[in-house]
Parts: sequence; C-alpha cells; structure tokens
Amino acid sequence: MKTVFSGIQPSGTLTLGNYLGAMKHFVDMQDEYNCYFCIVDQHAITVPQDRLKLRENIRSLAALYLAVGINHEKATLFIQSEVPGHSQLAWIMQCISYIGELERMTQFKDKSDGKEAVSSALLTYPPLMAADILLYKTDIVPVGEDQKQHLELTRDLAERFNKKYNDIFTIPEVRIPKVGARIMSLNDPHKKMSKSNPNPKSYISMLDDEATIIKKMKSAVTDTEGTIRFNREEKPAVSNLLSIYSLCSGESIEEIEQKYVGKGYGDFKSDLASVVVATLKPIQERYYQLLESTELDDILDHGASKANEVASKMVQKAERAMGLGRKRK
Ligand code: TYM
Repeated sequence: MKTVFSGIQPSGTLTLGNYLGAMKHFVDMQDEYNCYFCIVDQHAITVPQDRLKLRENIRSLAALYLAVGINHEKATLFIQSEVPGHSQLAWIMQCISYIGELERMTQFKDKSDGKEAVSSALLTYPPLMAADILLYKTDIVPVGEDQKQHLELTRDLAERFNKKYNDIFTIPEVRIPKVGARIMSLNDPHKKMSKSNPNPKSYISMLDDEATIIKKMKSAVTDTEGTIRFNREEKPAVSNLLSIYSLCSGESIEEIEQKYVGKGYGDFKSDLASVVVATLKPIQERYYQLLESTELDDILDHGASKANEVASKMVQKAERAMGLGRKRK
C-alpha cells in the first residue's frame, strides 16, 4: 500500500481554501492509502506565536481533522512536536541544503519581505518539511498549489542524500487537485485565500457561522460584466467563486454556468453562501463535540506513538548513513 503524508500549520482558524485545497482530499485518500496527517506546530513557530493561542490552535486543528472525516482507525493523526524524529531529521536535511536554494523559496521571500527580524527557521522551514515527508517513506503528498516549490526541494534533497550517502529515502510525488488547488481571496482574486490575511472579509473561516458566511459572500468582489462564466484570466473573481461552488456542491462548473444563464451575481452569491453553509455546518457540529471530548487526547497519543515507531527507525538509518554516532566494539 502506498503511503501519503500531509501537514497543516496550527497558526489560526483554517479557511475554506485549506479545506478545499487540502483537507477534503485527505478524507478521500484514507481508504486507499496508508495515511499520516500531521499538525505541524514546529513549522508554526517559525514566526512569532502567542503561546496560549498556539496550544488552543493545535487542539482545534486536531478536532477539525476529525470533524472533516479523518478516521483515526484508518489514518495516523499526530502532532509534529510529539515525534522527535521530525526535528532530528530536519537537522540532517539542513546540513545538505544550500542557503541559495532556500533563499529562492517564494514563501520565504514573501514572509520575510520588509521584516527586520526574520528567524533563521523561516529560511530552514523547507528542510523541516522535507524531514516530515521523508521520515515515512512517503509516496504521495497531497497539497495546494502554494506548496509545490517546497515539494520540488524535498525531492531534490532526497535525491541528493540518496546519491551521496545511502539510498534510503523514497522520492515523493506531489498531488495537487485539478480544481481548488488555489482558492483565492474574496476581495482580491489575485491573492490566495489565507488565514494570515488581516482582513477577515477576504476569507471564509471553516468555523464562520451562517450569517457571517452570507455577509462575506455578499461582499465578495466580482466584475462588471454580469455573467456567470468561468475564465480565469478574464474573470478571476467569478471563476474563483465558481470553483468554490463546484467543490462544495459536487456539480460541475458547466452545470453551474447553465443554471445561472440569465441570472445575476446577487442570486448566484446568495446560493453560493447556502452551498458553503451546507458544507461547513455538519463539520462545525462535529468539531464542537470533539473539542470537548477526551477521545481527542487518546487519538493524538496513539497517533504520536505509531508515527514515532516509523520515524525513529528512519532517523537512525539517516544518521548511520552520514556516519553519526560511534562505532561499537
Ligand atoms: P498550510 O498550513 O499553509 O496549509 C495547509 C494546506 O492547505 C493548502 N492551502 C490551500 N489550498 C488551496 N487554496 C488556498 N487558498 C490554500 N491555502 C492553503 C496548502 O497548500 C496546504 O496543503 N508548509 C505547509 C505545511 C506542511 C506540510 C508538510 C505539507 C508542513 N510539512 C509536509 C505537506 C507535507 C503549510 O504551511 O501549509
């Protein structure tokens, strides 16, 4: 059985972009693959975090993973910092990474741009991500479009290590969804929808209530043409809304276009809000139940111990291959 690994940062309330670009696909994959889903809290601290808020976000993300339909009996759900192999292998990955290639990462450029105090970990974020993936002999990594460059670097690092030391790492393949790989901001269709955007009107949070979703959809930008048709270049905002509609309702873009021939943006946006509410409501109900349960702790303990078994073996292999540790007599 092939292995799947993916991670999400617990750095704020997840958006509809995280759900449609990543989480939704995780759920589809768990029946077919040996899946590891991780709450990457060590990645989150590459930028300043409020300590209490971070802890809350970690628990919240665990509950959300389960609420969207991740089944802990099929997939391994765990917290990155609870499995020491991640930071151990990350160090090794840093030792074989070049500063130049890390500086070329667009996420590093975006996040460090204009800032005075940039942590060195923001630069070495991708080697930690490579470690996450390589620890589990991962074959497939489902992610949104924005992580593609990090995945290419992961492949490069794995190949470099295999060639230089010992052929121990599986070269992972990236899997990016055809629709929804890049859900855009509701008020600027040229920016991706992001939980770190200071304007909450730019995104739908997975925990937004019905009234908020209706309000945000109403204020979503469109264009002056007035017709509901998909064309990413000419009509980026409407195309983004069509993608969201299609992913939430299960109808194809063509079917939706047909349905709205002769209708205006008002009708379309109000139906879109209903479709999004219908998608998120059952998730939210499960989420609030799970958050209160002790079941969550048992699931995370079990996940960490399962992940640790695999990860610790790979760390040992990588350290040996590089000559770390002592030769026993
Ligand atoms: P993060 O936490 O920013 O996002 C989690 C997942 O959501 C996807 N995503 C989106 N997809 C479509 N449209 C959007 N607007 C959108 N915004 C986010 C992301 O592509 C991602 O799949 N570095 C990673 C976390 C990570 C990881 C890993 C992922 C750490 N280690 C190993 C895979 C494998 C990140 O910051 O994702």
